[in-house]
Amino acid sequence: MFLKEIFCILVTSLYNVPGVQGGEWGVNYPPQEMCALRGSSVVIPCTYYYPERYKDTVLTVVTVKWFRSSIPGIADRDTYVYHSTGINVSPEYKNRTEYLGNKVKNCTLQIHDLQSNDADKYYFRFETNQQDGKWTGASGVSLSITEPKVTLDPPVPDHTVKEGSFVSLTCGFDRCTLSDSSIVWYREGQPISNEKSNKLQFNVSYEHSGKYCCASAENSSFKSEEINLIVKYSPKNTSASVRAPGGIEEGSSVTLTCTSNANPPVSSYTWFRRDGNGNEEKARQQHLNFSSITSSDSGDYYCEANNSLGAQNSSSVRLSVTGRIINEGMKTILAIVAASIAFGILMLGIIVFIKRRNKPSIEESFNNAESQDRTDNISNIVGDSNLDRNEPILQGPAGEDDIQYTAIHFQPKRPERKKHQEEEEDASVIYSTVAKPANKT
Ligand SMILES: *[C@@H]1O[C@H](CO)[C@@H](O)[C@H](O)[C@H]1NC(C)=O
Ligand SMILES: *[C@@H]1O[C@H](CO)[C@@H](O)[C@H](O)[C@H]1NC(C)=O
Ligand SMILES: *[C@@H]1O[C@H](CO)[C@@H](O)[C@H](O)[C@H]1NC(C)=O
Ligand SMILES: *[C@@H]1O[C@H](CO)[C@@H](O)[C@H](O)[C@H]1NC(C)=O
Ligand SMILES: *[C@@H]1O[C@H](CO)[C@@H](O)[C@H](O)[C@H]1NC(C)=O
Ligand SMILES: *[C@@H]1O[C@H](CO)[C@@H](O)[C@H](O)[C@H]1NC(C)=O
Ligand SMILES: *[C@@H]1O[C@H](CO)[C@@H](O)[C@H](O)[C@H]1NC(C)=O
Ligand SMILES: *[C@@H]1O[C@H](CO)[C@@H](O)[C@H](O)[C@H]1NC(C)=O
Repeated sequence: MFLKEIFCILVTSLYNVPGVQGGEWGVNYPPQEMCALRGSSVVIPCTYYYPERYKDTVLTVVTVKWFRSSIPGIADRDTYVYHSTGINVSPEYKNRTEYLGNKVKNCTLQIHDLQSNDADKYYFRFETNQQDGKWTGASGVSLSITEPKVTLDPPVPDHTVKEGSFVSLTCGFDRCTLSDSSIVWYREGQPISNEKSNKLQFNVSYEHSGKYCCASAENSSFKSEEINLIVKYSPKNTSASVRAPGGIEEGSSVTLTCTSNANPPVSSYTWFRRDGNGNEEKARQQHLNFSSITSSDSGDYYCEANNSLGAQNSSSVRLSVTGRIINEGMKTILAIVAASIAFGILMLGIIVFIKRRNKPSIEESFNNAESQDRTDNISNIVGDSNLDRNEPILQGPAGEDDIQYTAIHFQPKRPERKKHQEEEEDASVIYSTVAKPANKT
């Protein structure tokens, strides 16, 4: 019955095109096709009109409704998108449609939080207080829903642009004219504030490199895929640095390094030394090495970094090469201190060595020598003493003391000499070990 009614109205509407047959019934949808971002909201502009009087009745609009259908003019009761009485509104639209029009001549409709399946043809229908006074705008409005999508304008391969060039990013499809949509743009996942338009336009600098996406500001849960904008730029932040692990003094090894940020990467580095009458080119490489620097290498150095888009010079670094004399003196002092400490440690070591190891062996040899020599010496001494002093022998213990005294007096000579030889040997060892570091310096 309802379908019949729609068809009937459609047929009548064909004969009531305003201005054609003088009919005064009609609905205008200024844009016939509309496009909106998924997640956003859309305002469908619409106006309608009807005669002031119809069949002797002053017409007033009683009911206004919007419905959707992919087949023109055909609808069933479940597909009301909006109904002024609130009945028979599809649950999926209940909370999302807003009638911005009125019951006079404005039938503008807003749909919030658009879903992909909202894509369809939408129709407005109004009914007056007159039984026959009903009208459907048969042309309808085609609404398509687009996922947000970023396109680069003009399109360039690999989204690669040179710094300084003009770039325009568009959110949406070419065929889709987004209306009344507020867009939010993201770079590297961070929203770019103050850009509400669906076009993002700028003259690129290296800072604009990055991944861009867009979404409806109303519902950013539907983000576009990212496009990676690559900006090529001439060398930036070119700087010269010095690496001199041992300080900058004559003979030391010094490396100057040039660093720079460029895209495409730096293709060549050139080192210069600033001197009185110009700039002397020193090397064409990233590192300028002095394996053994001399005072004549002193000066201000800077480097130039080049790539296909340009070049940049670093600020300069100063190399002040100091003479060696002061350091020679310091080295000598250090060597003497080191040698003294080494000598002291060695002496300590020897004392401990002698006390712990040599002492028992000296006693041993002493005892051996004693036993051997004693007999010889004793016999000699005894013989001698027998010859020289007959009396003391008879004295017994007193004579023994005498003998022992003489024996002791003579006997230590050999072990003492032995000990002394050992000491001499050790001393030579000490000398050579001490002498070694001394030679080094
Ligand atoms: C949906 O409807 C409920 C009540 O009907 C209301 O409280 C709520 O604010 C509505 N939500 C939106 C997004 O309009
Ligand atoms: C219809 O109403 C909307 C919302 O109030 C307004 O923006 C629009 O200008 C009106 N259209 C006409 C033709 O008055
Ligand atoms: C880009 O640069 C051109 C010329 O340098 C200038 O006229 C234009 O206004 C700039 N555009 C933007 C968006 O900054
Ligand atoms: C965004 O869309 C999703 C999916 O339709 C929905 O669940 C969510 O409530 C929406 N958020 C807002 C702020 O409308
Ligand atoms: C140069 O250095 C500045 C400060 O460190 C930095 O913000 C900038 O991104 C650098 N430029 C490039 C091209 O790396
Ligand atoms: C210079 O020194 C740097 C770092 O010590 C090294 O990587 C580089 O190979 C050296 N270059 C030359 C030409 O000796
Ligand atoms: C680097 O660029 C400068 C300035 O454009 C140019 O004068 C120089 O010849 C370039 N050097 C090299 C090695 O290409
Ligand atoms: C860097 O310095 C060299 C030598 O003074 C000069 O020839 C060159 O043009 C400078 N490059 C730039 C980019 O200023």
